[in-house]
Amino acid sequence: MAEILLVEDEANARKILSLGLELQGHQVIACASPEEAQAHMKAHAFDIVLTDLRMEGRDAGLEVIKLSKKLQPRARVLLLTAYASADTAVTAMKEGAFDYLTKPVSGEELAAAVERALFDAAPPTTETTVERSAERSDEKEMLVGESELMQRVRQRLSRAAKSDFTVLISGESGTGKELAARFVHAHSTRSKKMFVPVHCAAIPEGLFESELFGHRKGSFTGADFDRVGLIESADGGTLFLDEVGEMPLAVQVKLLRVLQERRIRRVGDDAERDVNIRIIAATNRDLDAEVAHGRFREDLFFRLNVVPVHMPPLRQRREDIPQLAKAIVRQWSEGRARIAESCMKRLCELPFMGNVRELENILQRMLALSDTGDLDLQLLAELYSGAQSEPQLSLSSLQHDNHNLDEWMEAIEKQVIDEALAKTGGNITRAAEELGISFRSLRYRLKKLGFARGDE
Ligand SMILES: Nc1ncnc2c1ncn2[C@@H]1O[C@H](COP(=O)(O)OP(=O)(O)OP(=O)(O)O)[C@@H](O)[C@H]1O
Ligand SMILES: [Mg+2]
Repeated sequence: MAEILLVEDEANARKILSLGLELQGHQVIACASPEEAQAHMKAHAFDIVLTDLRMEGRDAGLEVIKLSKKLQPRARVLLLTAYASADTAVTAMKEGAFDYLTKPVSGEELAAAVERALFDAAPPTTETTVERSAERSDEKEMLVGESELMQRVRQRLSRAAKSDFTVLISGESGTGKELAARFVHAHSTRSKKMFVPVHCAAIPEGLFESELFGHRKGSFTGADFDRVGLIESADGGTLFLDEVGEMPLAVQVKLLRVLQERRIRRVGDDAERDVNIRIIAATNRDLDAEVAHGRFREDLFFRLNVVPVHMPPLRQRREDIPQLAKAIVRQWSEGRARIAESCMKRLCELPFMGNVRELENILQRMLALSDTGDLDLQLLAELYSGAQSEPQLSLSSLQHDNHNLDEWMEAIEKQVIDEALAKTGGNITRAAEELGISFRSLRYRLKKLGFARGDE
């Protein structure tokens, strides 16, 4: 798939790395020093230069980066480094290395780094054609927003659509992760085939395997028919693993194997079947943290995180609100309703912790209540106090169990914090951001409210 120049002075490591890369389908030329590398660079064009940092007692990898910049401007440089020299690796990134890997490097990690580098090295000409076709097509309506953040997201998604790389979409609830996945599918060569969503959070643990892989009649109690699994039904198309962080560890191992081999076996079946699928995964959890806590397999994370795309929260791109609001109202009222200017102005100031989904909910409810089709400030004011207290602080339910105002306030504070933590997968720094308070202040409150977080 890619032509790779490997520079590594240690013979064993050189052998293992080139074998690993060749098994992944790449062509490798291996050498042992910057001088040899230079000779190869003059003779041949590479997609990727993979170099060790420390060679023969010096940071020879930095020389390789310089050579590569001069002789192979289109190649991406990946740097291999031992843990102790992570600082130098940062310097190397500044010098122009694309990424660095800490030794020892697993096969998964290497494969993912190479794919990421290839993705980013895709020639810009294809990029603009895809973008333009994305601009033209009706699908563009799907991902509204001209803020710089949204433009960048769309550009990245368009590029991803052009390739078959695995995409991992992160972002808070309601930011448009599923829409982004559909956008990629719709602009890919697979668009005529199925887009199959798998809502990992909704599948009971015991049924996961048969849902994903299918089963043979009689393979377990209740399996009265042969059944095609979701993976197989996505054959030729796209499998969308929504809330992939919720997938049980036992299923993660099996999914990893599918990603590696592109083959599946139905539960209770002997035969293996080839499947041709593109995978897009989404998560509103911090998967890095899930990996650190042992709740998500690191190797699967590497496999999924080839093209990471982050959907920014709506409050970071408020300039998109008018356009989104208009598009939503147009869609739900078939062009009949109008948003008054004062109402639009107020919409642009609201916090929208529930992101685009919350904006959509408010507008739908306003449309339902408006007789004239005019959405004005008064209507919004009537609804919004309700909209705020309903999902987050169900005041009436809290009222009953609390004897005085202090207890009541404390219960509310606890619930709000709890929700922020749930939303950020327990990440205190991000929860504090959500709540608009400092990290220390949140930690203090957590202690005061008796949240059991002794590990933080
Ligand atoms: N950029 C956008 N343009 C138009 N509509 C959008 C945009 N982003 C989100 N939406 C709409 O907002 C709603 C929520 O989007 P979506 O379901 O994709 O979010 P999500 O990130 O998957 O949320 P959750 O984490 O809650 O599943 C959908 O109805 C979607 O159509
Ligand atoms: Mg979703």
